[in-house]
Amino acid sequence: MTISTNSPVNLPGSPADTPVPTNTAVSARNVSKHYGRGETAVHALRDVSLDFEKGRFTAIMGPSGSGKSTLMHCLAGLDSVDAGRLWIGGTDITGLADADLTRLRREHVGFVFQAFNLVPTLTAEQNITLPVALAGGKVDSAWLQQIASTLGLTDRLSHRPHELSGGQQQRVAVARALLTRPDVIFGDEPTGNLDSTTGAEVLSLLRRSCREMGQSIIMVTHDPVAASYADRVVLMKDGALVGELQQSTPEAILGALATLGA
Ligand SMILES: Nc1ncnc2c1ncn2[C@@H]1O[C@H](COP(=O)(O)OP(=O)(O)OP(=O)(O)O)[C@@H](O)[C@H]1O
Ligand SMILES: [Mg+2]
Repeated sequence: MTISTNSPVNLPGSPADTPVPTNTAVSARNVSKHYGRGETAVHALRDVSLDFEKGRFTAIMGPSGSGKSTLMHCLAGLDSVDAGRLWIGGTDITGLADADLTRLRREHVGFVFQAFNLVPTLTAEQNITLPVALAGGKVDSAWLQQIASTLGLTDRLSHRPHELSGGQQQRVAVARALLTRPDVIFGDEPTGNLDSTTGAEVLSLLRRSCREMGQSIIMVTHDPVAASYADRVVLMKDGALVGELQQSTPEAILGALATLGA
């Protein structure tokens, strides 16, 4: 059986046919991806075209299985696409050699994954500083202390992941992403395991890093309150973009999600 794709769903003003602007942090044009083959093939992304402006905080929302994590992994150059092109900071990553892609990610991108991906044998502090160590850089200890203090991790820095709660591990992952001051931070439900107070602090920190350091944040979340911290909310369903909201309240976001059956 050949794999067919649905007709593209283009939003009004969709960038599908427009040239890639030079001022975007991340851009996608006509990106498609499927998993598996034949009868069981899953079309995880269907002709997605999207621009993320520099210095903006964007949330990606949609029902479970709508392709949010797949989109984020492809945008970050962690997963390949079947069709379409992707840019990070104006660099076309679609045909980039692995070594160049790794360097680009190391220098410009931070991640907070759905599973935190902490190294179990390292302490919290060593996990946080690992990307800097791998890049042969020098840790900005004042900035590290500030991040640790904001995230309530100061007295947990010498603990290993199994000695930390889920929420604390999540905060270590957030600290690791922030430490290198990357141009773009990708977060897959970065507040999913946090109590509402800590979640609000993490979201405020992310928003502040956008405002004060010009970072671009792209965050997948199921939580309308978390999404309301974003400048923009992008809605996905069945692997396609189906709408977006600007500067929204949790109530408006909830209403939009209800129309998607999320
Ligand atoms: N490695 C894989 N192999 C096969 N199918 C996959 C794989 N990864 C994801 N999928 C499928 O692709 C679709 C999109 O998955 P994805 O993880 O992007 O969804 P999501 O929107 O992030 O969902 P959630 O909110 O539950 O995290 C789903 O139908 C999923 O089952
Ligand atoms: Mg996901």
